[in-house]
Amino acid sequence: MPPLPPSHLELGVCDYPEHVPQSRWREYARAQKALGLRFVRLAEFAWSRLEPRPGEYDWRWLDEAVETYAAAGLQVVLCTPTAAPPAWLAERHPDILPAGRDGRVKTFGSRRHYDPSSPVFREFSRRITRAMAGRYGEHPAVVGWQTDNEFGWGDTAQSYTPAAAAAFRDWLRERYRTPDALNEAWGNVFWSMEYSDWGQIPLPGQAVAEVNPAHALDFLRFSSDQIAEFQEEQVAILRECSPGRFVTHNYMGFFSGFDHYRVSRCLDFASWDSYPTGTLEAVREWGLAEPGLMLDFARTGHPDVTGFNHDLYRGMVKGAARQASAPGFWVMEQQCGPVNWAPSNPLPARGAVELWTTQAWAHGADVVSYFRWRAATMAQEVLHSGLLRHDERPDRGYAEVAALNTAQFPTGEVPARVALLHDYESLWLYNLQPHAEGMNYWAQTFAYYRALRSLGMDVDLLHPDSDLSGYAVIVAPALTLMTPERAQHLAQAAEHAQIVFGPRTAFRTASGRTPEDGQFGPLSRLIGARLQNYDSLPVGLGQTVHLGSEPHTARRWAESYDPEGAAVLARYVGGPLDGEAAVIRHGNVTVIGAHSETLIAGVLEERLNAAGLEPTRLPEGVRLSRRGGITLLQNWNASAQTWQGEVLAPVSTRLLGTVKESV
Ligand code: GAL
Repeated sequence: MPPLPPSHLELGVCDYPEHVPQSRWREYARAQKALGLRFVRLAEFAWSRLEPRPGEYDWRWLDEAVETYAAAGLQVVLCTPTAAPPAWLAERHPDILPAGRDGRVKTFGSRRHYDPSSPVFREFSRRITRAMAGRYGEHPAVVGWQTDNEFGWGDTAQSYTPAAAAAFRDWLRERYRTPDALNEAWGNVFWSMEYSDWGQIPLPGQAVAEVNPAHALDFLRFSSDQIAEFQEEQVAILRECSPGRFVTHNYMGFFSGFDHYRVSRCLDFASWDSYPTGTLEAVREWGLAEPGLMLDFARTGHPDVTGFNHDLYRGMVKGAARQASAPGFWVMEQQCGPVNWAPSNPLPARGAVELWTTQAWAHGADVVSYFRWRAATMAQEVLHSGLLRHDERPDRGYAEVAALNTAQFPTGEVPARVALLHDYESLWLYNLQPHAEGMNYWAQTFAYYRALRSLGMDVDLLHPDSDLSGYAVIVAPALTLMTPERAQHLAQAAEHAQIVFGPRTAFRTASGRTPEDGQFGPLSRLIGARLQNYDSLPVGLGQTVHLGSEPHTARRWAESYDPEGAAVLARYVGGPLDGEAAVIRHGNVTVIGAHSETLIAGVLEERLNAAGLEPTRLPEGVRLSRRGGITLLQNWNASAQTWQGEVLAPVSTRLLGTVKESV
C-alpha cells in the first residue's frame, strides 16, 4: 500500500453502499478501481443503519462493504455518522435537537438536527464514534476518518437552546470571572445593558433590535468552541482506537459560522467540499463581481471563487502551507456534474471536471474525491448528479475523470510569496455591522484575492498570527480586529515584507469596542496615520479617487486618513472627502481606504513589482498556478482567450514546465 501523503495527485469518490442493493457493490468497487480511483469514502450519515436501535449495532453490512471495496484494491475513508442522528435518538431525547435564532426547535427529517451543546447528544456521539472506531479502526483498508459532515450546514453553527444558554454562561464566567469585567469589556453601560448576575445574560437571538455586537461576537466564539470541543472528543477517540490513520473534516466554502482555525487544530489536515457552479450561484448576492461576469462563468464557476477556498483550506492546519513535508489538503467532495441545491443548477461545461480537478491539485490538494458515485435514486438529492447516472450509465464527468493522468501532477509545495491574512473574528465583527449595503467581509477580502490572482500570483491564505517569515508581500484586506500582540507581530513582518491593509483595519479591539485612541489603535505607529472620515456609499453612489492622475471609483466604502508621518499616494476628488488621503504609505506599509477593484489592483501591482515578484496581467478567467515545479495555465471562460500571443481554448487546462518556459 503506497504511503500517505501521496507522491502525486490521487482521486477518490464518495459512495453510499447502503443506498443500493448489495448485489451492486462488487461491480461499483471494480468500476471505481478501473476508473483510477484510490479512495472511497463510506458511511457518512449511516447512523440509522449502524445503530438501528439504542445500543444495538448492525455491522454486517458495513463489514461486507469495507471488505468488498478493499478486495477491489480501494482504500477506505470512514465517516463518523453523527451529522444524521437516528429517529429513535430524537424521539427519546428531544433535547438533542437544535433551535434557531427565534428559539424554535428544529425537527427530525433532514440532517444536522443536533445541538452540539447538548450533553446527551455528546454522549451518544462519543458512543457511536467509539463503537465504530473500535470495529474498523485497525482494518488494513481503512486509511483515515472524516468527522461528522460539514459543521454548520443548514444554519446550525449556532443553536439557541436552553443547553446552549447554560453553556454560554459558563463560558462567559470562565472568560470574564465577574459580571463587572464582562460589562466593561462589552461596554454594557450603553443602554443600561449591565448585568449583575450571570443568569441574566440571554442568548443574542431575540433582542428587540440590534444586539450589542460584543455580545454577538462572544456568542459566535462560544458556538465555535462548542463545535471544536465536539470535534476534539471524536478525534481523541479516533486517535485512540485507530492509530496511524488520518483524521480530517469536510468544510464548506466561504462559511462564516465558526472559526475554522480553532476547530481544525486537532486535525491532520483540512478538507473541503468544492461545488464551483453551486457556490458561484450561492455567492451571487454578495456582489463578489459584476452580475454579468458571474453569468459568464455559470458553467464552470469563477476560478477565484474556487481557488480562494482551496488556498484557505491549504493554510488551515498548523501552517501546513509552509512546510513541504506537511500533507496537503483534500477536496473531500468534488462536484462532477450539476448540483441540486443552488437557486439554479446549470449543467457544467465540457472540460469543467478536468478544470476543477487540476486546479485543486495546483492549489495544493493531494486528493480530489468526487461526489458521488451514482446519482441518488431517492430522497432529497435525486436531482444531484454523480459519476454515474441514475441508470448507472456513466455521466458526463466520468469520461473526464477517466482521461486524467494523475501521475503528471506531483504533490509538493505551492511556492507562494504572497500571504493574504484572514481571520474569523474580524469577519464576524465586520459582518455584524456592515454599515453599507453590499459591504461584507468576504466581498472585501475576495476583491484583494482576485486582484492578486489576476496578476499571476500564488497566494497563501493565513491566519494573521501565523508565521509570516518568507513572504515578500502580505495583504490584509479586512483585518478589523487588532490587539497589541498582533500589531507587534505585523510590525515585525513589515521589517522584511511589504504589507498592504484595506479599510477598517484595526478599527476594533478583541471585545468589539473601538480603540480609545481611534483607528488604527495599536497599529498607529506602524501606519503613521489616523482615520479621518469614513463614508458609507449607497448602491449607485460612487466616490472618485485619483491614484497619480488615474481616476478610480470607490463603491460601498471610502475612508480617509490624516497622514501624520505617512505619504499620500491617492486622494479623493469631489464630494465630502475632496482632497483627503485615500491611499497612504509609511515605510513598507500601505493602506487602501477606498473599496475600488481597479484601485486595489493598481496599488497591488505596484507593490508586487516593488517586492520583485514580477506580476503579469491575466485576462479575466485565465489563471496561472504553480506547484511542484509545474505551472498550470487555465482558461475558465466559455470563449477562447489570448494571453501573450497564445490562444487558449475555452474551458481548457495546459501544463507548462515552469513559468519561465511559457513567458
Ligand atoms: C454536501 C454534503 C453531501 C451532499 C452534497 C450535495 O453538503 O456533504 O452529503 O449533500 O453536499 O452537493
